Amino acid sequence: MAVSQFNDQLGQDSNFATTIDMKSPLESQLTDNPLYLKIKERSDADKPPSRSSPLGAVAHARAPATESRAELMQYIRDQDKDLEVGYFGAIRYKPVSLGGLDLKLEPLHPSIGTIVHGIDLNKDLENPKVVDFLRALWLERRVIGFRNQDHLTRDDMVKFAKRFGEVGEQFGEREHRPNSPHDINQQIKVPGIPNMLVLPSDEIVPNAASGWHCDATWQPKPPMGSILMCREAPPIGGDTCFCDCYAMWEGLSLEVKKRVEFLRAVHVGSVGHQMDGKTPSAVHPVARTHPETGRTTLYVQQGFVKKFADEHDIPTEEQRKLLHSMKMQEGRPEYTCRFQWEPGSIAMWDNRAVLHTASGDFWPHRRLMERLTILDYERERRVPYYAPNQHSSVANSQN
Ligand SMILES: [Fe+2]
Repeated sequence: MAVSQFNDQLGQDSNFATTIDMKSPLESQLTDNPLYLKIKERSDADKPPSRSSPLGAVAHARAPATESRAELMQYIRDQDKDLEVGYFGAIRYKPVSLGGLDLKLEPLHPSIGTIVHGIDLNKDLENPKVVDFLRALWLERRVIGFRNQDHLTRDDMVKFAKRFGEVGEQFGEREHRPNSPHDINQQIKVPGIPNMLVLPSDEIVPNAASGWHCDATWQPKPPMGSILMCREAPPIGGDTCFCDCYAMWEGLSLEVKKRVEFLRAVHVGSVGHQMDGKTPSAVHPVARTHPETGRTTLYVQQGFVKKFADEHDIPTEEQRKLLHSMKMQEGRPEYTCRFQWEPGSIAMWDNRAVLHTASGDFWPHRRLMERLTILDYERERRVPYYAPNQHSSVANSQN
């Protein structure tokens, strides 16, 4: 189904069409959009998505060899058409009573990610104790998720976000506001909420942020956190994965830690992050002190970091080896959790201490997400820094 047809379906659809006006943004804004029309050419020519993208690679892996987009879609849809939602087996959770709420905290992984069950983000956060509890849980677990929040309008999402930080622009701070014609997400404007980024994907526009990254680290002051709402989920696939940046730092060899501890690296945005044709970049410490927990994270994401700062004058071959050793820390199963989306699921993560990636495995199914960024209310904490103390210093650590 085409992006331009999203709205017809949503208009007839049940839950959120009554509270969220999806009609205008997708329908009227993409139909004549040059980028959309260019992407659509491939679909009109019955060419599958490129194998060089995860969405294309997984689609080809799922189906017998064919170069027909229509055949590929049909094969995958036949595989997925009878899926139903069910729950099997035990789910481990911690019961917590707080402010009259009986919460169930479901860990997604030993070190990161918790789903908070038993809460209504519209009415239960009036109690400041509940907000304080969620904030502490977020700092500890770095990713917190919620189910069954599809009654939240876009305005309600903004209200929710403000309880934790200042709502940033689509890519965080205001120093650099991307206006790239090469990013399909930026072509959709949300009336009244310009800070919201809408991320659609369907059979014509395969679209997923596949690749480990923290949001907008090419900004001098990258956003503290991000909030993602799922409005429409594929029947299978499209999870968001998160990776623990404390563990990534801990997992480096002592030799590498000593070499890189006080280095800085250059983070460069992609063509989709350009503003007025200019590609953004920023220089940040490789080891970053989390400004609220005091712990050290590895603040290098291969999606945006290609080299160390020129001032260090590190030989090319050594740079390659060091970056490779860091790359090997990304996405290790021991450091990683997956959040499976349902319509109305929300995830809020700490960009200072986890990487994330969309699992680009769900084409040709539809997926519709909405994102807000949040900035630290404490402005002096927004610029990444490294300040080792006696507990975090590499000089005092052992392998
Ligand atoms: Fe992202």
